[in-house]
Amino acid sequence: MSVNVSNTACLDTEPLEKILASIPNAGPNDLVPILQQVQKAYGYLPKSILMAVSDRTGISASQIYGVATFYEQFYLEPHGRHTIRCCRGTACHVKGSPNIINAIQQALGIEPNETTEDMRYTFETVACLGTCFLAPVMMINNDYYGHLNARKIKSILERYA
Ligand code: FES
Repeated sequence: MSVNVSNTACLDTEPLEKILASIPNAGPNDLVPILQQVQKAYGYLPKSILMAVSDRTGISASQIYGVATFYEQFYLEPHGRHTIRCCRGTACHVKGSPNIINAIQQALGIEPNETTEDMRYTFETVACLGTCFLAPVMMINNDYYGHLNARKIKSILERYA
């Protein structure tokens, strides 16, 4: 089952005030560093905080959302402590990535782009991890696991339990 956390809850704006105070006269060119700091402070980019960024800087909400959704580093929903990225690219697909993806789903009880209820894991699939020679491959946080088969998945995940 996936987590379902409201993205519109009232949040403490003090971290945001500190971020904006550190970037006087913030404009569109400052959006990436602002969003990076917001994510670091809140763990993701809460909707209410993004709207406050828009109000305080005059940068339009559509521009903020454009940047927030363009870069993979930004999350618009609460994120788990560990991020699993499983490759679904062509090289990995022909070497069995559908079985790997299925094994991860079975082990965690979530679909791609979901987070476990205990906020431990977020599961994503990506087009290519740039390590096709390791196919099929996944990453957990910054660790690569290559030449995978479905039988290895449970024990790998348990290392992050
Ligand atoms: S296709 Fe999987 S790492 Fe490139």
